[in-house]
Amino acid sequence: MAEFKEISPDASAGEKLLNWVDNRFPASKMYKEHLSEYYAPKNFNFWYFFGSLALLVLVIQIVTGIFLVMHYKPDANLAFGSVEYIMRDVPWGWLIRYMHSTGASAFFIVVYMHMYRGLIYGSYRKPRELVWVFGCAIFLCLMAEAFMGYLLPWGQMSYWGAQVIVNLFAAVPFVGPDLALLIRGDYVVGDATLNRFFSFHVIAVPLVLLGLVVAHIIALHEVGSNNPDGVEIKGPNAPKDANGHPLDGVPFHPYYTVHDILGVSGFLLVFSAVIFFAPEFGGYFLEYNNFIPADPLKTPLHIAPVWYFTPFYSMLRAITSEMMYVLIACVLAGAFFGAVKTNLPKVVKAGVVGAALFVSVLMLSIDAKFWGVVVMGGAVVILFFLPWLDNCGVKSIRYRPDWHKYMYGVFVVNFIVLAYLGVQPPSAIGERVSQVGTLFYFGFFLLMPMWSRMGATKPVPDRVTFTPH
Ligand code: HEM
Repeated sequence: MAEFKEISPDASAGEKLLNWVDNRFPASKMYKEHLSEYYAPKNFNFWYFFGSLALLVLVIQIVTGIFLVMHYKPDANLAFGSVEYIMRDVPWGWLIRYMHSTGASAFFIVVYMHMYRGLIYGSYRKPRELVWVFGCAIFLCLMAEAFMGYLLPWGQMSYWGAQVIVNLFAAVPFVGPDLALLIRGDYVVGDATLNRFFSFHVIAVPLVLLGLVVAHIIALHEVGSNNPDGVEIKGPNAPKDANGHPLDGVPFHPYYTVHDILGVSGFLLVFSAVIFFAPEFGGYFLEYNNFIPADPLKTPLHIAPVWYFTPFYSMLRAITSEMMYVLIACVLAGAFFGAVKTNLPKVVKAGVVGAALFVSVLMLSIDAKFWGVVVMGGAVVILFFLPWLDNCGVKSIRYRPDWHKYMYGVFVVNFIVLAYLGVQPPSAIGERVSQVGTLFYFGFFLLMPMWSRMGATKPVPDRVTFTPH
């Protein structure tokens, strides 16, 4: 037990209260560790807004969600009507609902920017691997949360989107049909599905999400933040003042609380503009078909997921039986490369080639639809491994060879093209482009151990670069 701290009898009532609390709960200690004495590099730029913005959107989603649940009815006969009731009859209900639906898209915009910042500044690299891994787990949860939330208004897109995605699980060999049944709770998407998705959306996934966010921040504060230069400010050789505080750091509070208020203000301006003037955002944030009640007898002409899922949806659609031959060629080429170009023992090489042949036979014998699901899932899972794929001598994009910048640029353009194709109805040309895009996406990560090592890096400064303003 920590020592009991006495306080002068002349102290103010507030100080006495705080002392009473501090002797029972580490309030001041936590405030110091995580805010007033958490030293963050002084060269943060606008990319560093997105972590605190993600926290803000998380709070917005939870608070608006609590109010929505007060009026929403998780029943296949009542759900659509209860959302209309919220929109028309509940005082301020339209605002709460639009904040929640716009918040979902805002969450993904903010998180995609946040992840991209991590990518370009090498924030996933040692010692921040776990910060990144927790982040990837958050991203997975966020996808599950958004997918299940979208079923709740019980509109045409809610219904048919869920139908398409849940049916994908039926493509898993042997257990697929039972797995799909387990997820649906019925032979078709129905009331049982709505009830379990509701339960997961309002309590199970948010609990896990909150736990992961806490773990994410604890892990970050354990090792300290990275920065646009990728220079460690808390390392054993980093310059420190007489109290041991890093000379290249500033206390998070007040410096970054003020910095983040600027980010929050800008975000709230744009967020409000969307809520008040374009809440459906041209059918991207709320699809027009979702204003029609779910009808199991009427399939919409074109079923597309919401925009934040579409890059992954494109990759799913790209895996046709024709594309399987390309993927098999990639697997065999990879194994051949491993066998010829590496110094692995002969037995391991034989094992690699054998495994590749076995996988190729599997790939030929199982339906391409299943491999589409594997590719879609793999596109997210591969992110977890990023810390161990990047072999570049420096962390930040600033000091990498110039062509690495173009590589990251093409990665973004490719991701946006895949997202665009995912909202479009299927077409021959779209299919080809998304196949090339899928190969580039996976090539970017899987070949990273090699390409990240190539080219001359620039000298990294000893101290962060910072011009006072
Ligand atoms: C609910 C979602 C999330 C929340 C609330 C959140 C929150 C935060 C906060 C507050 C920070 C510190 C401030 C900053 O550096 O911007 C941070 C840092 C970080 N986050 Fe997240 N995050 C989320 C999702 C993610 C995801 C999905 C990833 C990656 C897959 C990720 C990777 C990182 C990394 C690598 C850092 C350290 C950045 C650095 O030091 O340069 N986060 N996060």
